[in-house]
Amino acid sequence: MKNTELGFIHRFIPASSKAKQTDLTILLLHGTGGNEEDLIPLGKELASNASILSVRGKVLENGMPRFFRRIKEGVFDLEDLNLRTNELADFILNSSSIYEFDLERIIAVGFSNGANIGASLLLRRPEVLTGAILFRAMVPFISKVLPDLSKKHILLSEGLHDPIISRGEAENLLRLFTKARSEATLEWQDSGHNLVQQDIVASRRWLERNF
Ligand code: MLT
Repeated sequence: MKNTELGFIHRFIPASSKAKQTDLTILLLHGTGGNEEDLIPLGKELASNASILSVRGKVLENGMPRFFRRIKEGVFDLEDLNLRTNELADFILNSSSIYEFDLERIIAVGFSNGANIGASLLLRRPEVLTGAILFRAMVPFISKVLPDLSKKHILLSEGLHDPIISRGEAENLLRLFTKARSEATLEWQDSGHNLVQQDIVASRRWLERNF
C-alpha cells in the first residue's frame, strides 16, 4: 500500500504469515537521497515475516530526501532535528493505531541519515521504538539528560573505513546508549560508509538473539 496520509509518504506492508517474528514491525529509515522503496528488500531479508513500515524523509537537500536538515556533512540543524524527530514519532504512534501494530515490537532499521534520526528517536521519544539497528550512525545531539533505555536493544553496525564517521564517534554513540542503560552492541564491519553483506549477517544474528 502506498500512502501519503498521516503526514509522511510511506509504505506499510503487513506481515505475510503467522510464522515466528510475525508480530514484529520493522521501521525502515533511508539514507540521504533515498526513499521509502529503497530499504524494503533489506527489511525483508532481515525479518521475512515481519510487517514493514517504510517512511520517506520530508526534508529536501538539492532534491534529495532526508529526515532533517543539516548545515554541512555531519553538522546538524539541531532545531530541525528536534522538530522532525517529534514529527516522525507522532507518525509512528498514529500509524500503529491505523495499521494495528504493536509499539512494544517495533524495531527501527536506519541507514546513515535514517540511522541518525533513529538514534534521535531513541534519545528523545523512546516510547515509539522497542529497539533499533543503526547502520553508520553518529551522535545526533548532545544532551545532559538521558532517557532510561533499559528495555531497549540497540545494534550499531559501523564501518572501519568510513570516511564520514570516525571510530571515536561510533564509540561515543555506544557510550551514550550504554549510559542510558540500553542493551547496546557495536559491531565493526570491514567497510566504508556503504552497507556490506556482513552488516546483514550481523543484523540477522542480533535479531534472532533478541526478538
Ligand atoms: C547525516 O547528515 O545524517 C549524515 O551526514 C549522514 C549522511 O546523510 O550523509
